[in-house]
Order: sequence, then C-alpha cells, then structure tokens
Amino acid sequence: MWPQVTQALRLVPERASTIAGQVDALFLFLVAVTVFFSGLIFLLVVVFALKYRRRSEAERPKAIHGSLLLEAIWTVVPLAIGLAIFVWGAYLYFVISRPPAAAMEIFVVGKQWMWKLQHPTGQREINELHVPVNRPIKLTMTSEDVIHSFFVPAFRIKADVVPGRYTSTWFEATKTGEYHLFCAEYCGTIHSGMIGKIIVMEPAAFQQWLAGATPGAPVVPVAELGRQQFEQRGCVTCHSGKPGGLAPALAGLFGSPVPLADGSTVKADESYLRESILNPHARLVAGFGPIMPVYQGLLSEENVMQIIAYLKSLPGQPGAH
Ligand code: CUA
Repeated sequence: MWPQVTQALRLVPERASTIAGQVDALFLFLVAVTVFFSGLIFLLVVVFALKYRRRSEAERPKAIHGSLLLEAIWTVVPLAIGLAIFVWGAYLYFVISRPPAAAMEIFVVGKQWMWKLQHPTGQREINELHVPVNRPIKLTMTSEDVIHSFFVPAFRIKADVVPGRYTSTWFEATKTGEYHLFCAEYCGTIHSGMIGKIIVMEPAAFQQWLAGATPGAPVVPVAELGRQQFEQRGCVTCHSGKPGGLAPALAGLFGSPVPLADGSTVKADESYLRESILNPHARLVAGFGPIMPVYQGLLSEENVMQIIAYLKSLPGQPGAH
C-alpha cells in the first residue's frame, strides 16, 4: 500500500521503471531513520533539560561513572542500522549497474549541449529516445567533450557520461508515456538546456515508430555501419582473421580474456576495445608489434561505438583464443 501512499502524498516523483520502487523504498527508509532519530534527540534534549535543570544556586550534580550497557546499546544499534543501509544500498547498486543479458542496447553520446542516441537497428535520435515498454534497455554512453550525466527521475537512474571511457546503466520502463531526461552534471553555459525526453511506447507502436523513424533514408544497423568503417579504414588488411596475420583475429574476441605483451591479461570489454582502437599501443596483445596506427582524433565517438558493435556481432570461432 505504501507505494500508493507515497505517490499520493507526492513524497517521490512518478515511478515508471522496475527499479523505481526499490530505490524509493531505500530512500524513504533513510528519511524515516533520519526523522526518527532527529525527533528522538529533540525530545530527549527537552526532557533532560526539564528533568535535570538546576533547582537552586547551591545544587551540585551527582558524579556519574558511566554505564557499559548504555554505551553498548548506542554503539551496536547505530552500527546495525548503518550496516543494514550499506548492504541494502550495495545490493541495489549492483542491480542498477548490471544490465540483464537480454537488454536492448542503445548508444548514447553526450556533447555540449545535446544527447545523441542511436538504436542498434541504426535509427538516430537527438534529445529524444523511443523505447518499448516492459523491455530492459541498456545504455552504453560516452561524451565528446566534458562530463555529462544521464538522469531520468521517473526511472530513478542517473549515470555520469564521461569523455574517454564508456559508462553504462539500464532501465525497464513499466508505463507508456513521456518522461524527462536531464543532464545532471554542470557542463557549461547551456547545461540546464541539455534536456530531452524518453518516450515509452507499446511494443507494436514502437516497431511502427522504428520503421518510420527515418523516412526516405535507408536505415543501416549499427553493427553494419561498424563493418563498413572496418573495411573503409583498412582495418581488415591486418585484422584478416587468417593464421599468421599481422594483427590479432577479432572474431569471438568480445568478452574473452586477452593475454598482453607485459604478461598480464585483460578482458576484452567495450572499454578495452575502445582503447585499442584509439590508442592501440597502450595495452599491446602478446605476440604482436606496435604497428597499428593511432586513431585518436580520427574517429568520432559514434564511429568507435559502431566498430565495437561490429566486433561484438562477430561470431566466436572455436579454438580462436
Ligand atoms: Cu551536459 Cu550538463
């Protein structure tokens, strides 16, 4: 019943995602604990001030030698409450930071002062994101310039969007409608105007929207755009995938461990692939020389995301790594 009560009292903003209720429960618990102890302390201050007030000029207080029981209680109780908040918060943090495997991936690039979004099927949007209801959506995000923050209050998600690296978050909308998108990190003059909306649609309406999103222009899936980049930029010459190639084979690379020249191992996630494209000599793969050109400044963030989407789409080859 409390969700309806808190909504009716406007204690919290509208809830429109699967995690919104959980975030609110933790938040309202923190508020309740704070209110309870603030009230308790206020009350005790008044009670003690009255009870132990000085009654005459000659009155002297009795000596007190402490109480082990009292001290144990005021140590153990706050400790238990603090640890409970920690465990609860950590659990929720893990839920929010781990997108379900089946999530639909949206690519987000922040720049002063707009949000650029791209669907896996290729449709692009600016300051607007259309998504289907009841489907997990993973956002893979980066910035072209300064730090921004992707904030959708109704979904209770907020994640920094940082230049030079990927961050991600996810949500599953539970209600159709339009929800505010804000930039929640001061990023310059028009920071407050860096806003947009998330449009949550019924699956059928969403499919219809996808089909008609870019009338006239053919829509190319992101992975296919990446494949085109991969060929146009000549990557395929060295990353031929054939034995004895000048550069590592890339099929099935995503998510697998990569042995490095310095003897350590790294997991080939989005961030490592990004670094290896833009600054390939930073973490060289064992057995290969530093011969790949540096693409820093030559590729847009969109291009890099497309190439990574292509690499992720390559089927794994048994025994390739
Ligand atoms: Cu972007 Cu504030």
